[in-house]
Amino acid sequence: MAKYDFDKCIDRHGTQCKKIEILKQDYGRDDLLPLWIADMDFAVCPEITQALVHRLADHPVYGYTCLYDGYWQSIIDWQRERNGFEFTREEVTFVAGIVTGFGLAVNFFTKPGDKIVIQQPVYYPFKDVIDGNGRITINNALLPGEDNLYRMDLEGLERIMQEEKPRMMVVCNPHNPAGIAWEPEVLREVARMARKHGVIVFSDEIFGDLMLYGHKHTPMATVSEDAAAVTVTCGAPSKTFNIAGLKSSWCVVMNPELREPFFKWIEINELCNANLVSIIATEAAYRNGAQWLEECLHYIEGNVDYVEQYCREHIPGIVAVKPQAGFLVWLDCTGLGISHDEVVSLFRDKAGLAMNEGSMFGEAGRCHMRFNMGSPRSVIVQAMHQLEKAVNEMK
Ligand SMILES: Cc1ncc(COP(=O)(O)O)c(C=O)c1O
Repeated sequence: MAKYDFDKCIDRHGTQCKKIEILKQDYGRDDLLPLWIADMDFAVCPEITQALVHRLADHPVYGYTCLYDGYWQSIIDWQRERNGFEFTREEVTFVAGIVTGFGLAVNFFTKPGDKIVIQQPVYYPFKDVIDGNGRITINNALLPGEDNLYRMDLEGLERIMQEEKPRMMVVCNPHNPAGIAWEPEVLREVARMARKHGVIVFSDEIFGDLMLYGHKHTPMATVSEDAAAVTVTCGAPSKTFNIAGLKSSWCVVMNPELREPFFKWIEINELCNANLVSIIATEAAYRNGAQWLEECLHYIEGNVDYVEQYCREHIPGIVAVKPQAGFLVWLDCTGLGISHDEVVSLFRDKAGLAMNEGSMFGEAGRCHMRFNMGSPRSVIVQAMHQLEKAVNEMK
């Protein structure tokens, strides 16, 4: 029997919830169902809350904090046992977020004007960080497959590495927005090319613990010697355990030639000073959150199955691509036969739904919407009914 309740609707108003608070600013209306930014509306596992109460809230002194062995070991054990990713205490550091970690890597390993490869459609802040730091984004676009999933264009990647001489590339592993769990052979080939051409691979593994339908996460750094030599990995308990607001992530670099100067620079600038709340929650999550996570993944699969089937049966112009990982569903709306702007307006103005519009993730995302499944089933059901009604009215 399930121990945790994912059906419960929790009112997040008045809790500084970004998903709700900036609806008006970003969508022009605050009465939309918020199904956009990638956090979940579920209560965290009580083991996290209890740890925060007992080890933090009940103690009235909040002075300087040091990272302790139990915290590091909880990350190391979780990654080894769950993903077969083995690293030592020396090979991991704290970073306050994955985008923060990416920004640090970009600033440390590249210079203004250097080229960095991303593969769109992909999580949009990568491009923002690259462009915003005066580096140049090169897009090796993903190739759409027959099954509505994407493939990496490995030939295109090798050509870019040869001709454009990028200094870094990003692998979103697993991939956001399409929820792809990259195959080890693909990652191995990326690593081979990267090493040959002197490219550092930044592997964003924030969704690596949210594997669906029996898919397995392959940490980039584990696939080969080449991969271990070129990869900077960032991961976190933030998406996994719904604690994104606590800003807790980690960064692993196996190659000492990359790691030692990078970690030293991070330390000198005190960029790895963690917040007490985040480390207590992280340890509690990794030590005691496994059952909650299993139930959460099962619940998300139920939401995805519902949406996929609903589209197939009632809204055939929209294909809900089942993700292999994560809690985001990439809706392919090309079958509606309307323009991208009309798709956006249909969802927002007619259906009353706030989702991420696909073009945020690159041109290839036009006529797509990203739908967050991390909500109680009743909310997902309501969203599908609103969407179906809006599509029918459009006809
Ligand atoms: C692929 C990916 N990486 C990173 C992040 C953000 O991570 P953080 O909040 O730790 O910067 C997100 C958030 O949606 C994401 O989807």
